[in-house]
Amino acid sequence: MVRNMRKIKIAILGFGTVGCQIYQYLKSESEHIRELFQVEIEVVKIYVRDINKERSIKGIEFLLTDQGYDAIDAADLIMECIGGNGSELSRELVQYAIRKEKPVILSSKKCLAFYGRELFGEAVGNHVPIYYDACVGGGIPISRNLKDMGRCEQIKKIYGIVNATSNVILEDMSSRNMTFQEALLQAQKQGIAENDPSEDVDGYDALYKAIILAGITFGTWISVPSVQPESLRDLTEGDFAQEKTSGYVIKQVFEINCEKETIVCSVQNRLVDKDSLIACVKGRNNIIIIDSTEAGERAFYGQGAGAKPTASAMFDDMILCLSHIIKP
Ligand code: HSE
Repeated sequence: MVRNMRKIKIAILGFGTVGCQIYQYLKSESEHIRELFQVEIEVVKIYVRDINKERSIKGIEFLLTDQGYDAIDAADLIMECIGGNGSELSRELVQYAIRKEKPVILSSKKCLAFYGRELFGEAVGNHVPIYYDACVGGGIPISRNLKDMGRCEQIKKIYGIVNATSNVILEDMSSRNMTFQEALLQAQKQGIAENDPSEDVDGYDALYKAIILAGITFGTWISVPSVQPESLRDLTEGDFAQEKTSGYVIKQVFEINCEKETIVCSVQNRLVDKDSLIACVKGRNNIIIIDSTEAGERAFYGQGAGAKPTASAMFDDMILCLSHIIKP
């Protein structure tokens, strides 16, 4: 006798590179999920802003809707992949989902940096889980680890590289003698830059991620306008000349310091020692180093950008979510 298996209906909000990749993982891993949780997962709606846009994945037209609330109403679990320039829209839809008591897997870092305090407050108030590991560090499981770290000690500092685009640009300008524009084009071709790459090169993308790390570690949500990140555009030929002769390399480094309960956050172009861990971070990789009173420094390293690492982090969040919401 075949028992009717419980179905978990999923809505994907946004169908860009990350949304398409998560859709593919949900398809290819459905059998795995059935074995793990004894449930069927089904994508029931895909919310897009432009329903008539040509898409690389065919046969999904019947799932598309430009009505975000309808997509949420139809689902049990929401995967938000709206991305950079839709942070207000992400906020509105995530808020709606939370109020409708639907668990949310979030990937919009800008939305979380601006509205983290508010969204977490609503999620707690409505007893709804939200997951956000994909917002920082792409495929690096940093947020979920940070939440569980430092229980018997104090985290003093978190620092490193969380913007792949600026890392690629600096590397190409320094070791391949590219101009800023050539290097930026290269990063855009790799599909890692934001739609509006000024968020990457002006340090805001790294700032959003630093704000999220500070928020989940210290419970302090720094306001975005209170920090002025340094832009790559501030670098001069003299800086690159100094890099070549000094044994240092230029990196875009974020830092969060916790001193006497005061949280200070920065994003700067820094000359770092060629032999340091940070200097060894190449291409689209990120590093997040956590310095704490008892365990000292611990580093998390891996691909920080791109559809596959990011969608993989969202998929892991979904597995975590299922393990929370499915009662045996
Ligand atoms: N534009 C971002 C970066 C994508 O370059 O790191 C990943 O968040």
